[in-house]
Amino acid sequence: MKGIVLAGGSGTRLHPLTLAVNKQLLPVYDKPMIFYPVSVLMLAGIREILIITSPEFLDAYKRLFGSGAQYGVSFDYAVQPKPEGLAQAFIIGSGFVGTDNVGLVLGDNIFFGANMSPLLQKARERAKGATIFTYHVDNPAAYGVVTLDGNGRPLKIVEKPKQPDSPWAVTGLYFYDNRVLDIAAGLKPSPRGELEITDVNQAYLDAGDLHVEPLPRGYAWLDTGTQDSLLEAAEFVRTIQHRQGLQIACLEEIAFLHGFIGRDQLLDRGHLFEKTPYGQYLLRLAAEHK
Ligand code: DAU
Repeated sequence: MKGIVLAGGSGTRLHPLTLAVNKQLLPVYDKPMIFYPVSVLMLAGIREILIITSPEFLDAYKRLFGSGAQYGVSFDYAVQPKPEGLAQAFIIGSGFVGTDNVGLVLGDNIFFGANMSPLLQKARERAKGATIFTYHVDNPAAYGVVTLDGNGRPLKIVEKPKQPDSPWAVTGLYFYDNRVLDIAAGLKPSPRGELEITDVNQAYLDAGDLHVEPLPRGYAWLDTGTQDSLLEAAEFVRTIQHRQGLQIACLEEIAFLHGFIGRDQLLDRGHLFEKTPYGQYLLRLAAEHK
């Protein structure tokens, strides 16, 4: 399976923070925002990842991530000239995806919870259909919202409904079979002028092939769309990391524990950042795994 991280957009809701910096490069406590969604793809075991961003920030992402060899993965890069919708990722990325299935994660979505890896692997291993992950929220009107029947099966999905009839938001993490390329290619822009991911999910729902995985209660799915939610996400990461002494979305750690890189590479990265808590964490991890 291939993975795509969509990290374009105009970030207008965060101006002036995002006048000169791409939103997904902003810090969430001690690392750039995009580390968090990339960590999700890596936890799913996906090692071929396409990063899509707007033209002016392509070089910044290449500087940040390079080939991906430091994490034992490979990064490809592509440009989305204008933010014309999430589903455009599959048109831009069709050559990269080829005949594979694909996971898409939005560059501004942060997930945290126990046993994330098995949860993701299960969705990844589903050969046919689509899997979306839902989260119980207080403000569903801000998201794609899915209505379920009594057995937890999806009945309908609506993008930002004015009067939501369910508290279940669709999170920015989606797994699709290869049909998604054709579905995306056949979409028409919505009234707001975007190729909507909700229309992709609706197509799978109509075909009886949409699987819904509710994220359990103990999970965090954090928003970074406003100044306040961005700070709250940073505070959340800081609180958990300080209390546990364990990092959230440390890409080298995930790579090492999944066998994508060896101890020597972990040490190299630790030395590279040894003046920071992040680097010291990597060195400690290497010392614990002699
Ligand atoms: O976060 C989950 C929500 O994401 C879902 O519940 C909604 O169904 C889905 O439409 C989307 O809603 P948002 O209003 O949050 O999407 P937004 O336009 O803010 O874009 C999400 C991220 O994707 C953001 O980091 C910018 C990036 N993006 C967005 C668009 C429209 C792109 O890279 N290109 C785009 O064309």
